[in-house]
Amino acid sequence: MSAQSLDKILIVDDEPEITLALKLFLDDNGYTTSIASSGETALALFESEKDYTAILLDIKMPGIDGVTVLKRIQDSRSDAAVVMMSGHGSEDLAVECMKKGASDYISKPFAFADMLLRIEMALIHRRERMEKQLLQQEKEDFVLMLSHDMKNPLTAVIGSIDIIREECLGKVNEEQKEYLQSAIDSCNEVVTMIDNLLDLRKFELGKFQMAIQQYNAHDLVDKIANQFARPAKHDGIELSVISGSGSGKIAVDRNAFNRVIGNLLGNSLKFTPEGGKIIISCHSISGREAHTLDIPGYIPLPPDFQAQECFVKVSVRDTGNGIPHDELERIFDRYSQFSRKSERERGGAGLGLAYCKLVIERFNGMIWAKSEAEQGSEFTILLPCCSE
Ligand SMILES: Nc1ncnc2c1ncn2[C@@H]1O[C@H](COP(=O)(O)OP(=O)(O)OP(=O)(O)O)[C@@H](O)[C@H]1O
Ligand SMILES: [Mg+2]
Repeated sequence: MSAQSLDKILIVDDEPEITLALKLFLDDNGYTTSIASSGETALALFESEKDYTAILLDIKMPGIDGVTVLKRIQDSRSDAAVVMMSGHGSEDLAVECMKKGASDYISKPFAFADMLLRIEMALIHRRERMEKQLLQQEKEDFVLMLSHDMKNPLTAVIGSIDIIREECLGKVNEEQKEYLQSAIDSCNEVVTMIDNLLDLRKFELGKFQMAIQQYNAHDLVDKIANQFARPAKHDGIELSVISGSGSGKIAVDRNAFNRVIGNLLGNSLKFTPEGGKIIISCHSISGREAHTLDIPGYIPLPPDFQAQECFVKVSVRDTGNGIPHDELERIFDRYSQFSRKSERERGGAGLGLAYCKLVIERFNGMIWAKSEAEQGSEFTILLPCCSE
């Protein structure tokens, strides 16, 4: 008998002679094993003892079959290695299972030594996969910790520069003020990038907390646009705000909404050369008008879209570099930046729009972009109005 392994194996087959023989053989080879004579028993066992590292799973069983058991196991985010056992005629299904995440398959009848080899290989691959995931996780955690720890000193730097700029420590001339303000703007850009990164991670972990309340969209848009008036002027860009009529009540988390609009205006400023224009507009529109908008087909419609009677439409339009047509869908993906040299030089992490999309979809809204290269861009947000 071999030395005891830490690996625990579940053998699932409706033929008792196979499960028993396999159990004896694997126990003899140092594994801890359990047996299940049906898919139902396998799932119940798997639910109560989550520490199986490998599962030998028959494909054809009465009741819940092996393909369904595999799917349920995968849905439970288990990292167990699954080796499918296929009878004559079910090889195609076995290949299908491999595509869906099974580690390997073996055709019946099989030699036990062959089965042992496959289990050992599957367990080695499982360990390698888990080590890779752990390393990736450690890298991400390190970046997040670093980003988080950078935020406090950065905020302190902004505060100190502001004190000097506000002349609390003595007279500062206009040119010096300009430089100090540029330093503050650059620090704020880094803070926004860190916030996007940290919040996207929180979204992934399901830990992003929102305080959803009703707000007047026009007020929110006006306020955030005001904050961009100075940097726009500094960059020689004309920024106008168009606020339409209608109550425009929306249910959002104020900070998250402000950061979405801030990311869009920040992008427009970044990608619009001196002398250009940015227009941000906010309108209440009827459901009928919304349904006739030219929304790109790849944008998922929120569940109640057709039934909704009123929407708030916010759009940020600029006369900047524009975005090539075939990049429009991709720019909302994380780390997606298309690489014209001049744009890479402008910095950024490619996280702003990914953040905007997640937040807007959380508010049951939609966000999309329209643009032509060198002809400016328009980003549109559609959010359901709250009933009065
Ligand atoms: N208004 C715009 N005009 C031209 N290109 C844009 C505009 N907005 C976004 N893009 C393109 O989409 C990419 C992704 O934008 P996103 O805001 O996600 O990232 P970023 O601005 O590069 O970095 P970050 O927002 O993380 O600082 C940009 O790098 C740019 O290529
Ligand atoms: Mg951005």
